[in-house]
Amino acid sequence: MLKLFVTGGAGFIGSAFIRLALAARPDCQVINFDALTYAGNPDNLTGLDAERHCFVHGDIANRDQVLAALPDDTDALINFAAESHVDRSIVSADEFLRTNVLGTQVLLDVARARGIRRFVHISTDEVMGSLPEDENAFFTEASPFAPNSPYAASKAAAEHLVRAAHHTHGLDTITTRCGNNYGPRQFPEKLIPLFIANALADEPVPVYGDGRNVRDWIYVDDHCRAILLALEKGESGATYNIGARNERRNLEVVESLLRALDKPASLIRYVKDRPGHDRRYAIDPTKIEMELGWQPQETWESGLKKTIQWYADNPEWIARARSGAYREYYARQYGVEVSAR
Ligand code: NAD
Ligand code: TYD
Repeated sequence: MLKLFVTGGAGFIGSAFIRLALAARPDCQVINFDALTYAGNPDNLTGLDAERHCFVHGDIANRDQVLAALPDDTDALINFAAESHVDRSIVSADEFLRTNVLGTQVLLDVARARGIRRFVHISTDEVMGSLPEDENAFFTEASPFAPNSPYAASKAAAEHLVRAAHHTHGLDTITTRCGNNYGPRQFPEKLIPLFIANALADEPVPVYGDGRNVRDWIYVDDHCRAILLALEKGESGATYNIGARNERRNLEVVESLLRALDKPASLIRYVKDRPGHDRRYAIDPTKIEMELGWQPQETWESGLKKTIQWYADNPEWIARARSGAYREYYARQYGVEVSAR
């Protein structure tokens, strides 16, 4: 039996991880601990095997709630819970510090108190800042920390706390740093689901700055397979960079999406750049490839096709995600109303 305690499992990547772990490991049982913030979505959990998946509503920054939910026979705690959107962290960093920093320390403390076998912390390439556009520069596990947004700074702080818990207290930890994920069930504030949702509704797609920023894209299930592998075979205390060697300029991503949806390029709107906008992310995944034998299974073309198909097939999911507080967020961020479709 593999007993997992997953935090943030109602979000985009956490819910994909739970699906994958339950399918890949028939002996796996999951407790899914999530505060259901604006990004946590019970719709993301439909169809999960109720015998092996148990949802607990709770906040990782609340020690009593974590203590009450975390059984001491848990094999691994996997921490996905976070405030995850750079633009929101620019408006206010408060929740980022509370969840990403304080919440991570609470989880580390409780995991230690409960004698949890392994602590897997999900981090991001953004802790390493921005790369020059020179094609030969890549993030490795040895790259220095240089976070540029409040989001990235909070994730860097969390990584330091994980490192300290391993070094000082001997907690068995793994840290993974991944690039930009895309796939089904991603909240439509991030580039790809936002642009698919807008294009499907024939609304403009807002490109920041000159649209030439580079991101290193990975299909969410490939990221989750890497996490499962690192959880099972990774070296205690290690960090693994995860990336699919798939760098794309934002404009290239947008053009691919519009082409696949058969929508005109005239939907593109250049809008004011994001303050402090990182120019380029690019991951060198050699370590996880060589040490753990991980390889992505999806190509950019196959991953994008699956992703677009999922959003096209799930208009109710999009409509529900774009209702309520999302409408205020959109109006504040983009200065226009989002349509009701
Ligand atoms: P998400 O925003 O879709 O989901 C975050 C989840 O965490 C939500 O279900 C939310 O309800 C939950 N949560 C937030 N605060 C909480 C709290 N205090 N207590 C309990 N639950 C809380 O995020 P995501 O895109 O799925 O990202 C998951 C993790 O992966 C994050 O740690 C993020 O930093 C990291 N990451 C994301 C990407 C990406 O491209 N999305 C890339 C690299 C790393
Ligand atoms: P995002 O999905 O927010 O991820 P991150 O900032 O963590 O990389 O953004 C991906 C890229 O797309 C980034 O360069 C910012 C850009 N972007 C836009 O051009 N317009 C948008 O409306 C959004 C949300 C992002």
